[in-house]
Amino acid sequence: MRTLIPERAMAILRAVRFRAALTTGGALLSLGACQDRGAAEATAPMAEETMAAAPSPSPATPTRVRGNAPVGATVGLPFVHDITQGGATFSGGQEPVTYRATFLPGANGLSLVGNRLVGTPLAAGQLRAVVQLRDAAGRTAADTITVVAFDAGLTEPSLPAAAYAYSDARVPLPAHIRGAAPGVPAGVVAGDNTPAGNLITDAGATLGRVLFHDRRLSANDRVSCASCHQQRFGFSDTARLSRGFAGAPTARHSMALANARIYPNGRFFWDERAPTLEAQVLLPIQDAGEMGMTLDGLLTKLRLTPYYAPLFAAAFGSNEITADRVSRALAQFVRALVPTASRFDQAFAGGGAPNFAAVFTPEEQLGEQLFRGRAGCARCHGQATQVAVAAVNNGLDAAPADAGAGQGRFKVPSLRNVAIRAPYMHDGRFRTLEEVVAFYDSGVQAGAGTDPRLLQGPGGTPIRLGLSAAERAALVAFLRTLTDDTFLADPRLADPFAGR
Ligand code: HEC
Ligand code: HEC
Repeated sequence: MRTLIPERAMAILRAVRFRAALTTGGALLSLGACQDRGAAEATAPMAEETMAAAPSPSPATPTRVRGNAPVGATVGLPFVHDITQGGATFSGGQEPVTYRATFLPGANGLSLVGNRLVGTPLAAGQLRAVVQLRDAAGRTAADTITVVAFDAGLTEPSLPAAAYAYSDARVPLPAHIRGAAPGVPAGVVAGDNTPAGNLITDAGATLGRVLFHDRRLSANDRVSCASCHQQRFGFSDTARLSRGFAGAPTARHSMALANARIYPNGRFFWDERAPTLEAQVLLPIQDAGEMGMTLDGLLTKLRLTPYYAPLFAAAFGSNEITADRVSRALAQFVRALVPTASRFDQAFAGGGAPNFAAVFTPEEQLGEQLFRGRAGCARCHGQATQVAVAAVNNGLDAAPADAGAGQGRFKVPSLRNVAIRAPYMHDGRFRTLEEVVAFYDSGVQAGAGTDPRLLQGPGGTPIRLGLSAAERAALVAFLRTLTDDTFLADPRLADPFAGR
């Protein structure tokens, strides 16, 4: 009988808590510690009825009071989680209560033992455990718990004590990149697509750098943005098609991200389907083949990862983690990828018209002249970043298998670092720059969409440049001057995750 009085007190307490939960909309603080549903109390209710002087209210209907927040686990390490949160999850219910769980999409090595989720996660990923409380009267209440199993090999980023410089104030774009320098071809605009609402800040780009290199952005922690956009390959990939988180090939060749900031119409992807960079950067995360996440799933993972709250606070003033902030930080980092130290750039060091004779070999000078002149490359690959103002069809095929932005039109990529990031074009069809130059020299196809600049008059036959072998070699030599080794090894842009 010694258990009867405490048990009575507990039933009343539960009823009080339940009513409080109703009147406070469920935002209930725990009222006490007497929440252990031990075996002893389960034997008492009958005696309790006879003890009561007045009829007691029957235990309230079981209710979920405070849902479980998502919890993190690590693949291969034992995991235990009390789904009652020490009694805070459910209130009411007539003893004895039992719990059971359904796992979606699968249990991943976990099971429910009593009121505890236990086990050792087998693979990285997220699951939902739908747990149900059933009381002695057969009444139920349920909660859903998200469990994120992280890969065991993940590490923390190591960042400098004082943030690296990324903002325009601290690392201004050189005049020739801004398009303001004399000697930059007339009629082209610098075309900076940075929106006024998302200027690059040092803390924002730092967060973007961490996100960009973090494998947690993919469903199974295998792939980061940097897996397909590798710094040493000019933020592109040497594979013709890259592999997503589960090994599936991408539909097109990975794009080099240098100078993404400088594209006047501000659209992204080979076919320009993303209207802004802010919109673009969230798409690979949610792509079923590339990273395989939902935005909710992403936010859950980032909130469970301790180093993110301070990075978001530094970047945006509070540690709230939202998809909008993820997008803005990633876009800031991508816009910070502007190479400025190639030999080509050195020709602009004097501040006036470029002095190519001072930095180039005679062959490279010839290539530069051909690029701007007879070979006609600069008509599309314009200004000092070799970008265009809109997508065009450069005559790869008379009948394109991939329509791109319509009629075989594709975004004109900046040619920075092009020499170290073969293969080329949206489908990676060319393995060398020699093949690319040979194509423009004698391989352009006339199709319905072929750009008129590559035809001899409207509706005409494709141009044939008739370059000599020396001229073709000179063009390739010029393209090699666009390699920026400082950029390709810049610690500000590098993978901050050590030891993997
Ligand atoms: C599995 C490989 C893969 C991953 C992972 C990946 N990308 Fe890409 N990325 C590509 C491919 C392929 C394209 C071109 C796709 C197309 O145009 O259809 C591309 C295009 C882009 C572009 C467009 C560039 C331009 O000039 O239009 C940007 C920006 C970009 N990715 C950024 C990112 C960011 C940020 C992440 C991480 C959140 C990321 N990518 C993750 C493969 C990948
Ligand atoms: C009419 C516009 C136009 C002209 C002229 C032009 N290009 Fe291109 N260039 C493009 C487009 C569009 C692409 C991307 C096409 C695709 O992937 O389907 C491209 C792609 C390239 C690439 C591959 C870049 C990458 O990241 O894969 C190289 C290299 C290149 N061009 C060099 C040249 C050279 C050298 C010349 C002059 C001989 C030239 N281009 C003339 C429009 C043009």
